[in-house]
Amino acid sequence: MLTGKRILLIIGGGIAAYKTLELIRLLRKDGAAVTPVLTKAGAEFVTPLSVSALAGEKVHTALFDLTAEAEMGHIQLSRVADLLVVAPATADLMAKMAQGRADDLASTLLLATDTPVMLAPAMNVRMWMHPATQRNIKVLQGDGIRFVGPDEGEMACGEYGPGRMAEPAAILAAIRAALVQGPLTGKHVLVTSGPTHEPIDPVRYIANRSSGAQGTAIAAALRDLGARVTFVTGPAAVPPPEGVQVVRVETARAMLEAVEAALPADAAVMAAAVADWRVAEESASKIKKVAGAAAPSLTFAENPDILKSVAQSIDRRPKLVVGFAAETDDVLAHAQAKRARKGCDWIVANDVSPGTGIMGGTENAVTLITASGAEPWPRLPKDEVARRLALRIAEALE
Ligand code: CTP
Repeated sequence: MLTGKRILLIIGGGIAAYKTLELIRLLRKDGAAVTPVLTKAGAEFVTPLSVSALAGEKVHTALFDLTAEAEMGHIQLSRVADLLVVAPATADLMAKMAQGRADDLASTLLLATDTPVMLAPAMNVRMWMHPATQRNIKVLQGDGIRFVGPDEGEMACGEYGPGRMAEPAAILAAIRAALVQGPLTGKHVLVTSGPTHEPIDPVRYIANRSSGAQGTAIAAALRDLGARVTFVTGPAAVPPPEGVQVVRVETARAMLEAVEAALPADAAVMAAAVADWRVAEESASKIKKVAGAAAPSLTFAENPDILKSVAQSIDRRPKLVVGFAAETDDVLAHAQAKRARKGCDWIVANDVSPGTGIMGGTENAVTLITASGAEPWPRLPKDEVARRLALRIAEALE
């Protein structure tokens, strides 16, 4: 619940602004007070009257509104809230923020504030993918700005891809997560999860049976303790948690790139089941079956070891690096050797033999291996394993 919390909600100019009306309703239902700010472009999409009616408060629109300045100056306005949320955050507004410009009320508030800021971007897919926007995102992330979304899907402009504003319920979850005060508040934790897909040709790939359930539960548990979580996930069977920064990848190489882009972090939990090998030469066109010809053979190349490269990074190693060891025999011995080989601090070892029902199941039986030895945990639901691990991580980062 957000009872007692105040959100300064900046509504930018995009078609997604209509969803922001629903967000205001959800925020108020959750107990939050909403101070709305409507940009000039935002007012082209939703009216000040609907915004103020839903918020139950005056909507702020212009910088040089002398009456408003007399009531509450813009500097003060930027600081009354527990969180500033920009939804939709347009490419233009993000560019202004990245440059520190302040030429209207919204950008001035964003520059003058000393409270945390969260953006829910919404824009055309090409605008989102543009190197300039991607550069701005990096700058803003470096400034500690949080992001929720964008989602991938069909857009109002008819194109398909990332750029759609996150759904109001997801933004609400992210806001709750940002305002949670817990032992991991102020910490950034990177989590990898899910399998990777290694392409053979444009229609076929090599994968593994990981559902992503344990990694997802860990990300949610870390979020619940107040951490800012970057969740780098392969194509998993379970949806990613809300209220975390989701980066979707397919291959091990893309996962490494995303992980490197997400650093620095205070801790990294590598729960992904990364494919050890990829097909050495991915075929650009579909491999055809030719009557009478021999079956094709595949040659493999080794994938980068993401855990090892993070754990052995000279200048960007997180304080705590946690790996997983999915084994089918000699679990402890293999896991202990893996901890040494990869250079990580802890290994969460589990037996994934088919008989255990762990891979793809709802429970997990793990042994936590640290510098001081092996600690077997009872068989528990994956959510509970995640909660215990998150608490241990919080202790270690104290
Ligand atoms: N891992 C990784 N990058 C890889 C392979 C594995 O980051 N290319 C990480 C996994 O996320 C996990 C840990 O390393 O945290 C161990 O993964 P696992 O598949 O159990 O071990 P491997 O390194 O693949 O070793 P082996 O195949 O010998 O068991």
